[in-house]
Amino acid sequence: MTILVTGGAGFIGANFVLDWLAQSDERVVNLDALTYAGNLRTLQGLKDDPRHVFVHGDIGNSELLQRLLAEHRPRAIIHFAAESHVDRSIHGPEAFIQTNVVGTCRLLEAARAHWQTLPEPEKTTFRFLHVSTDEVYGTLALGAPAFTEAHAIEPNSPYSASKAASDHLVRAWHHTYGLPVLTTHCSNNYGPYHFPEKLIPLIILNALAGKPLPIYGDGLQIRDWLYVKDHCTAIRRVLEAGKPGQAYNIGGHNEMTNLAIVHHICALLDKLAPSRFTPYASLITHVKDRPGHDRRYAIDAGKIERELGWKPAETFATGIRKTVRWYLDNPAWVENVQSGAYREWMQQQYSGAAAGEVQGVKREA
Ligand code: NAD
Ligand code: TYD
Repeated sequence: MTILVTGGAGFIGANFVLDWLAQSDERVVNLDALTYAGNLRTLQGLKDDPRHVFVHGDIGNSELLQRLLAEHRPRAIIHFAAESHVDRSIHGPEAFIQTNVVGTCRLLEAARAHWQTLPEPEKTTFRFLHVSTDEVYGTLALGAPAFTEAHAIEPNSPYSASKAASDHLVRAWHHTYGLPVLTTHCSNNYGPYHFPEKLIPLIILNALAGKPLPIYGDGLQIRDWLYVKDHCTAIRRVLEAGKPGQAYNIGGHNEMTNLAIVHHICALLDKLAPSRFTPYASLITHVKDRPGHDRRYAIDAGKIERELGWKPAETFATGIRKTVRWYLDNPAWVENVQSGAYREWMQQQYSGAAAGEVQGVKREA
């Protein structure tokens, strides 16, 4: 048997592929366009593994999709591929519409054509699992109940709007054509192989390099944090037992402010990697806030726990310790991702090139 994974060279997708093949012999066809966020180095350990077939290609390429599905006849598609970074979506929303909306539509169409040719019982057991985000629910006031699956869809950034659009397509392909889809909404992931444009790896690597640790605005925005391996376990469980047409929230029960996250990482690094930059918290620097910055996300993961028996195994304290350890132990991977394209992004987003940002910079204590 075979599954098709899209975006399996990115952060969560690659963790999922590695985890999947560590636990089963079922083949994975991994379709990834290798954008700046895709990294084959993460999958290096699978280079000679016949259970992993890597295909360099775009989910928007209908001909390629049709060929892959006809050749490999997967029993499920796990759809991770996306443009995923909110800040980039503010600078350039088009790519988000192209991949997250148009790309998902093409993938759904190819999946539907493939699914319709399947004989029973394969047709009934086929699954299209769409990996979405808690950001489609919008922002929460302090003290408001956490997002359930019934919460209104109120996306606020170009990224979350494009993901919400793709969620609607997935829902419609189920309702209209009967395609057996599953949708998951997870909170902020962290863990090994995370591209250092996102908060947690950025803070770890900037601290180790003695660079400023940029906090947007007052740093009191709240996110729920999910260790990536827990997310992988949840996806496996939804794939195995989720009900077609249903959505499942996946969270880590770890609501924290950005400032608390950064202080936690600094304190860990003070112990695990003391250097002339300790205490690392002295590098914390407040910079201009993200436009339209959502104040709080919080996930109610009660449904997946009640109906599918899934709970996260890691607390933030245990997950972040593993994550920091991983970055300390894998300097070659880190060096490889901090390539030219990465440096350009850092320059554009954080340097003094934009005068407004320089004015907004304030170093904490
Ligand atoms: P990522 O940016 O690290 O990886 C995305 C991967 O998709 C990359 O390997 C990239 O090359 C590939 N890709 C991009 N466009 C493509 C295209 N047109 N065709 C084929 N491949 C393409 O993202 P991630 O953090 O691993 O997120 C994976 C999924 O999970 C996304 O759908 C994202 O919206 C969702 N999600 C992520 C988080 C998080 O905290 N990272 C939280 C909630 C939901
Ligand atoms: P991020 O990792 O980009 O994920 P998302 O925007 O999808 O939640 O950001 C997590 C939080 O950290 C978010 O509130 C923005 C904030 N943040 C900073 O304060 N400084 C930074 O340099 C980055 C990248 C993010």
